[in-house]
Amino acid sequence: MVSATTPGSITPLTLKLSSGDFQISPPVVLAPMAGITNAPFRTLCREQGAGLFVSEMVTARALIERRPETLRMILPGEGEWPRSVQLYSVNPDVMRAAVTMIGREDLADHIDMNFGCPVPKVTRKGGGAALPYKRRLFSAIVGSAVEAAAPFGIPVTVKMRLGIDSDHETYMEAAKSAADLGVNWVALHARTAAQMYEGKSDWEAIARLVDHLKPTGVPVLGNGDIWSGDDGLAMISQTGCAGVVIGRGCLGRPWLFRDLVNAFNGVQSKHLPRLSEVRQVMNRHAELIVEYFQSEERGCRDLRKHMAWYLKGFRVPSELRRQFGMVSSLSELRNLLLQLTDQPYPEAIGGLPRGRTSHGRAVTLPDGWLNDPDELADIELEDAFSGG
Ligand SMILES: Cc1cc2nc3c(=O)[nH]c(=O)nc-3n(C[C@H](O)[C@H](O)[C@H](O)COP(=O)(O)O)c2cc1C
Repeated sequence: MVSATTPGSITPLTLKLSSGDFQISPPVVLAPMAGITNAPFRTLCREQGAGLFVSEMVTARALIERRPETLRMILPGEGEWPRSVQLYSVNPDVMRAAVTMIGREDLADHIDMNFGCPVPKVTRKGGGAALPYKRRLFSAIVGSAVEAAAPFGIPVTVKMRLGIDSDHETYMEAAKSAADLGVNWVALHARTAAQMYEGKSDWEAIARLVDHLKPTGVPVLGNGDIWSGDDGLAMISQTGCAGVVIGRGCLGRPWLFRDLVNAFNGVQSKHLPRLSEVRQVMNRHAELIVEYFQSEERGCRDLRKHMAWYLKGFRVPSELRRQFGMVSSLSELRNLLLQLTDQPYPEAIGGLPRGRTSHGRAVTLPDGWLNDPDELADIELEDAFSGG
């Protein structure tokens, strides 16, 4: 256990940008979440204060192939800066090419790399959370990204899990290797791939990594199970990590960032919006997302997954809930919003865990994957990625 953290005295996290140091203050980062952290969602979160907001993950290969959908996925929101993009690649050359493209075309200010995906269709091919086990391949990918980003002054960071399973943890070695290669920070979601979202993020492992990386001077960001401003403070206090990464806690609750800013500044204030206010956020989310997709139909389809999160804990008739989950136009949404009866925020339920809770399972790996960690694996799977 690290000594207690005094709110208001938490050091900002420095992101070394080409234009100078950017202070992430307080050191709170929106986690990349595939299918969620697009520009509209980031805008809603950014408006609540806090530091840095990472894009949905895009595959490096899709980026260099200039697939229109991928190019749209890295577009910043209005006034968004620094622009932070998460890349996924299993190939050092493809990673290098993607980072170079981002640098040459000034497409982002910060690049994060995904080594945490536990989804079977990715780990089956050796990607995501399975990849750091092949230590030479991991170092080659990280090294090529850092090297390619350097001439453009773009900081590169990595995000990882503990490893494949409790018998094959990789985070200590992989994080040290990434630190030695020059990443700006290491973010740790302290679960193994086998755990998926089961159990609790192992904050003690975050503390161990903080100690392990201390001699390198590279900060560790902690991730997993922050549902309130106080949780954010507790993670810093218990682990000594330099900042926190927020995923599921802000689903349907972008104001969690406001609570985190308050908690980190020592202000005792928790935002508890009435349903009338949540209604306005839902409407704004809809407008932003329709504009982003340039399609009312597509935007509303994408919005559906957020509806249950916004309404979680409120007293809403099940038929009305169902209709929110099938919304297909802005006028339909507005009509549904008018049918919501105003009520106070359901504090007891609203602050409980939300989003994915999938149970653990054995990780599917390529044949013989665990035989030799030094083998320079040759894998091809970037098209298979779907986030996570
Ligand atoms: C819907 C969803 C999509 C995700 N997509 C990604 C991703 O693309 N890249 C990534 O590194 N992590 C991804 N994650 C993992 C989160 O970034 C985060 O590590 C995880 O949710 C644990 O943090 P939390 O407890 O705050 O949610 C995803 C998580 C969820 C719930």
